[in-house]
Amino acid sequence: MVGRLAVVGVGAVGGFFAARAAAAGVDVQLCARRRFDDLVIRGPDGVFRAALPVWTNPEQAEPVDWVLLATKVHQNATALAWLTHLVGPDTVVVVAQNGVRQAERVAGVVPADRVLPTVVYINAEPVAPGVVEHRNYGFLHVPAGALADRFAEILPGAGLLRPVDDFAVTAWTKLTANTAANSLTALTGRRLEVLRRADVGRLALSIMREAVAVAHADGAAVPADLPEVTIGRLRNQPAGSGTSMLYDRLAGRPLEHEALIGAVVRIGAEHGVPTVVSAHILPLLAAISDAASPLPVAPTR
Ligand SMILES: NC(=O)c1ccc[n+]([C@@H]2O[C@H](COP(=O)([O-])OP(=O)(O)OC[C@H]3O[C@@H](n4cnc5c(N)ncnc54)[C@H](OP(=O)(O)O)[C@@H]3O)[C@@H](O)[C@H]2O)c1
Repeated sequence: MVGRLAVVGVGAVGGFFAARAAAAGVDVQLCARRRFDDLVIRGPDGVFRAALPVWTNPEQAEPVDWVLLATKVHQNATALAWLTHLVGPDTVVVVAQNGVRQAERVAGVVPADRVLPTVVYINAEPVAPGVVEHRNYGFLHVPAGALADRFAEILPGAGLLRPVDDFAVTAWTKLTANTAANSLTALTGRRLEVLRRADVGRLALSIMREAVAVAHADGAAVPADLPEVTIGRLRNQPAGSGTSMLYDRLAGRPLEHEALIGAVVRIGAEHGVPTVVSAHILPLLAAISDAASPLPVAPTR
């Protein structure tokens, strides 16, 4: 018996990994704000459809063996209400969210030795409650170790779980790319092709160099040429490629800026590393996010 998995936040990431676990025979419980009948993942390999149990109110929840937290980071304040009911004495919380220092986000609910942070790589988008358009790849980097070995029984599919020896480097590497790519696409309202402009490309490099300086001060030995390598990769993404922050802006949803470029500014301040460019970008994203007006969603039973 591998245990029961509750997925909090059934969007692109939560929906995809819930489907993979269910397909492997795991007992999966969905925790969502809105009720839906079937979880549907439409992907390059076909369509997954299953009627998994859905709770829509944290009061319904009971302790499980595993929790996959897959809300956007700025949604954690409400999502943590689920965790207070889902976490028992042995529960492990897997944080499937962008950024660094994931364990701090759930520190009030579960001790750090029962948190498995992840770095998520997937190209997917939620198109309706319970329905996800999966475009490309989908895997989680996790710190190698005992928790990763146990979680591999929940996500046994080939390549879904990829343990790494230096998780801090993996997390900061992705955060470095996100600080520039997400921020500049969301600010300009343009796809990643905007980074091909020489001036925007220079701005992206400045932002990423600050992220690398902060990563080094925080003990993550990312390569010094990471910004140059990353800008080359971002400029060569397939036409039309965007970022999750751009999609959130276009949909009028709040942005995840505080967990991305905001984290660089905050952690930089902790270490006395200047982040002048990032600190100027941050309030612009905050202002866009403030103006977002998502539809209010009340929990239903
Ligand atoms: N999507 C990608 O391609 C991708 C790639 C790499 C990393 N990531 C990262 O993965 C994390 C998850 O992103 P995502 O793209 O999966 O986000 P998403 O598609 O927006 O999904 C988040 C889900 O959480 C739900 N939610 C919010 N508050 C909740 C609450 N209190 N209780 C229950 N459900 C709640 C939302 O429900 P509503 O629909 O009701 O708002 C939504 O279904 C983020 O940190 C993101 O940056 C995403």
